[in-house]
Amino acid sequence: MIDFRRQDIRKLETEFGIPLYVFDEAAFIHNYFKLETALRQYYPKYRVSYSFKTNYTPYMCSVVNRLGGYAEVVSGMEYDIAKRVGFAAEKIIFNGPNKGEDGVKALLDGCIVNVDNFDELDLVCRIVNEHPETKFEIGLRVNIDVGQTFISRFGMDTTELDRAFEIVDHVDNLEVVGLHCHISRCRGVDVWRERTRVMLELSDRYFSNRQPKYIDLGSGMFGEMDAELKAQFGVVPSYDDYAEATTKQMAEHYSRYTDHQKPVLFTEPGTTLINKYVDFIGRVDAIKSIKGKTFAILNCSEHNLGETCTLKKLPVKVVHSGPRSKYYKDVDLVGYTCLEQDVMYAEYSGYLAPGDYVQFGNVGGYSNVYKPPFIWPNCAMVVKKETGEYQVIKRKESYADILHTYAF
Ligand SMILES: Cc1ncc(COP(=O)(O)O)c(C=O)c1O
Repeated sequence: MIDFRRQDIRKLETEFGIPLYVFDEAAFIHNYFKLETALRQYYPKYRVSYSFKTNYTPYMCSVVNRLGGYAEVVSGMEYDIAKRVGFAAEKIIFNGPNKGEDGVKALLDGCIVNVDNFDELDLVCRIVNEHPETKFEIGLRVNIDVGQTFISRFGMDTTELDRAFEIVDHVDNLEVVGLHCHISRCRGVDVWRERTRVMLELSDRYFSNRQPKYIDLGSGMFGEMDAELKAQFGVVPSYDDYAEATTKQMAEHYSRYTDHQKPVLFTEPGTTLINKYVDFIGRVDAIKSIKGKTFAILNCSEHNLGETCTLKKLPVKVVHSGPRSKYYKDVDLVGYTCLEQDVMYAEYSGYLAPGDYVQFGNVGGYSNVYKPPFIWPNCAMVVKKETGEYQVIKRKESYADILHTYAF
C-alpha cells in the first residue's frame, strides 16, 4: 500500500474527493517486469498478455502497451479500448465464450482469436470462406483436466479436438496455429506444472509435423501481496516458483528447436498484475453500536472494492483525521448501501473516529470495472505517477452518467 500521511490524504480529498482509487504506476511497472523477467529466465519467448476484464481502465492498459505487453480481451468493448490505447491488432488476443460479431471483426483485423466452441468454429469457417484470397489463423481454447474439482464450461473438450482439427483441415485458407487454456480457482504451482505438461502433450499430438505458433496457458497465478493478506492464503508461490513449473518445462521440451521454431508462450495475468497496485481510500462518516456490536459507516461500499473483500480481509490502514479517536474492538467497517452484507472489513480493532480515513489495499482487480450503479455512482481514480504527481484517470461519475440511458 502507498504510505499516505494525513496531509497527503487531505490534499487528495481537496483535489479529487474521497472516496478515491489510487493507481500506483511505478509499483505496477516494477511488478510487471518482475513477472516477465522471472518467466523469461528459462524461456525468452514468453509474453505477458494483460487480462483487460480484470481492470480495463484505459490508462493501465496503455501502460501495458508501452511496456510491450499484449492485450487479452473478451468483448467488443475491451477490443475497442485495446485499439484506442494503441495496441496493434497482432498484439490483441480475443478470447471469450461468446465473441459474436466483434470476434469476427477482430479475426478480419488480424487479431489472435482463440475459438471457444464448435458453433463459433462454424461461424469462423463461414467468414473465412467469404474471403478466399486471405489466409486466416486461429487458436483453439481447450478444456483440460488438471485435477480441478469442478467441470469448467470453457473451451472444447479434449475428446473433441480431432473433430475441430478436421473441420479446419477442410478449409483451405484456415489454419490452427495455437492452443489456449485457462483454469480458474487453481493457483498452485503443481496445477501450473500439470497444465503446462498437458498443453505440451496436446501440442505434440496436434502439431506433429510443425510447431504451434503459440501456447497460451491463461491465467491464475498469485501475485505479490502485503503480508497480512498473504498469511490468509497459506502457501503463496513466487514468480520464480511458477517459472520453474512452466517456462523451464517449455524450455526443456523445445530445447532441440531453434528460437524461430519455438512457440511463443503467453500467460494472461489480470489480478497478478494489478491487484496490489490500486489502493482505495474511504472515510468514516458515522460510528454506532447496536446490541453490543459496533459498526463504522463509510462513504463507500464493498462494491467499490470488489469480491476479494468478501473472501478475505484486505490490507487496511486507518489514517486519523484528528486527535478525537477512541479505541474500538471488533468494529465492522460497513458501506453506504442498504445491504446487510455490505461489510468491507469485519471485526477491525483499533482507534477510530468519524472523519478518519480508511485505506484498503489490493483492490486493483474486479473493483471499479465491477461496481454496479447501485445507490451511488462511482468515485474518481487517480494515478500516482512515477514522478509522484497525481492525475485523474477516471473522473467521478455524476448522476447524469448513470441515468442518461433511462427514459424519463
Ligand atoms: C481467459 C482468462 N484469462 C485471464 C484471466 C485473468 O485471471 P486472473 O485474474 O486470475 O489473473 C481470466 C479470469 O477469469 C480469464 O477468464
